[in-house]
Amino acid sequence: MAPTNKFSYSNFTDELRTRLSVLDVVGRVVPLTKKGQNYWGCCPFHNEKTPSFSVNEEKGFYHCFGCGEHGDIISFTMKHNNMDFKSAITELASQAGLKMPDYKPRDPHIVKREEALFDICEKAAQTYTEKLFTPDGAVALAYARKRGFTDEDIKKYRLGYAPKNNIIANKYAESRYLTESGLCRRGDYGLYDFFRDKLMFPIFNANGKVVAFSGRSLDGSEPKYINTSDTDVFHKRKTVFGLNFAREGIHRANRSIIVEGQIDAIKMQLNGFPETVAPLGTALTEDHIALLCKSNRNITFCFDGDGAGQKAAARACELVMQFLRDTSDVKFAFVNGGKDPDEILTKSGTDAMRKIIDDAIPLTEFLWDLANKNFITSTPGGRAQAEKFLDTNIEKIIDTELKKHYKQEYDKRKFQHWQSWKRVKKTIDVKLPDIDDITKNTLVYIVNTFPELAERYLEFLGTLGVDFDGTVTDLNLDFDAAEKYIVSLKLQRYLEKLNTRKKELTDKLLSGDESVREEIAETDTEIKKYTEKLKLLITL
Ligand code: UTP
Ligand code: MN
Repeated sequence: MAPTNKFSYSNFTDELRTRLSVLDVVGRVVPLTKKGQNYWGCCPFHNEKTPSFSVNEEKGFYHCFGCGEHGDIISFTMKHNNMDFKSAITELASQAGLKMPDYKPRDPHIVKREEALFDICEKAAQTYTEKLFTPDGAVALAYARKRGFTDEDIKKYRLGYAPKNNIIANKYAESRYLTESGLCRRGDYGLYDFFRDKLMFPIFNANGKVVAFSGRSLDGSEPKYINTSDTDVFHKRKTVFGLNFAREGIHRANRSIIVEGQIDAIKMQLNGFPETVAPLGTALTEDHIALLCKSNRNITFCFDGDGAGQKAAARACELVMQFLRDTSDVKFAFVNGGKDPDEILTKSGTDAMRKIIDDAIPLTEFLWDLANKNFITSTPGGRAQAEKFLDTNIEKIIDTELKKHYKQEYDKRKFQHWQSWKRVKKTIDVKLPDIDDITKNTLVYIVNTFPELAERYLEFLGTLGVDFDGTVTDLNLDFDAAEKYIVSLKLQRYLEKLNTRKKELTDKLLSGDESVREEIAETDTEIKKYTEKLKLLITL
């Protein structure tokens, strides 16, 4: 019978706790707002109107000061969904995008197996490095040096050379793990080495153990890089290249930089950006970001400036939204001219690279640019699509307070940047006096304080010719008063327009133009109607 006690899942539950933040799990079902160190919401386990349910992301637990309920992601999922332990971890596994492990306990056999895989990878790494410094490795060594790697760098990153013959298959013929480690494959004539005639880059796990390799071709043959396929100790989608070396750097710099290539990551680490990592042989995944966010939520993505890089950046942006916190600083840097960070560092130096990183665009700006680039915002349809795109992404933010501020930010931007296209065609073509300074200040205050109003009265506000980007003085107007202010201003402006028009028409009549009589009468009716409306609004 399959054992289902907690003990047998202990490794997997650790993995779940690493992959899923308590904020992600609880935030799915309880709206949370950050106050002080913790996030707060209304307790889902007892009835309450004021939040006494707190979530501490760092420590990974929740606690209700009302009913005393507390626990971690697993107990939350069990209790909230009325599930047993196994169903809860199955549910969490699906949230984390992880496959449930088999129900086998983590027996010594598996542990032994993993150790055997670490062992053969370690031996292979040593063999490859030795080979690099033999005559067989001369071409590879020259290539590594040409790429700017010193002997010290080669030692640190444990670069090596996989020769043309089947060195691993021959040397370690007695090992039972040659194919499972991805080092060898089985062909018609027995085992052969997967990596042959390659410059070798070991891939380390978080503990610094070699778990896989990436080999670069030396003769220009394609593919340029081949990488170990997934094994029991190596999962490509969840491995961030260079992270074992970057931890300290990330801590000191209080951010991580993600570049596209592994040579780029190494060169960055060696040239003033020790906080740099890269995905490996795959596009960036949610797991990569989750992993990085575990150590630091400030991320600078660094992509090629070309079309593919822009696409990758857009993808990264959409993936990172769910990991945003109110303290996150996420940015996008682009390397232009068909170069990559390695080429910038080699040809132009660290300062040039630093400038690129310093010029990175904040996420808020980048997301806005995406909405405007991807859709034709000069048309109503395009604006609707752009708006949906923004909304979908903002919706991914877990912290409700942060989400609200993102919404406000984009409401303001939509108003400021899209208003010119939403302007109504004036029916009566009359020049009105400019808005005076006091009115202007009040409007700037209203637009910046209540973006919903700006959105609602977009068309009217757009006709005023006011620059709404000014500084805001606090006027102590509430939402209703602000709305009343806008509506009465709208009525007043319209009345002014009608009166000016009436005066023009009367002048025409006095100079003998009888054709305007009818329009004067119509204008009079309008004036009466709108004077009534204004009176009514003011007495309300
Ligand atoms: P690039 O094509 O940008 O290569 O691929 P690069 O990193 O600049 O490599 P060099 O400087 O020419 O040596 C970016 C990343 O995509 C993966 C690798 O992880 C590489 O670092 N890749 C690329 C592969 O896995 N296979 C390939 O054939 C090419
Ligand atoms: Mn390159």
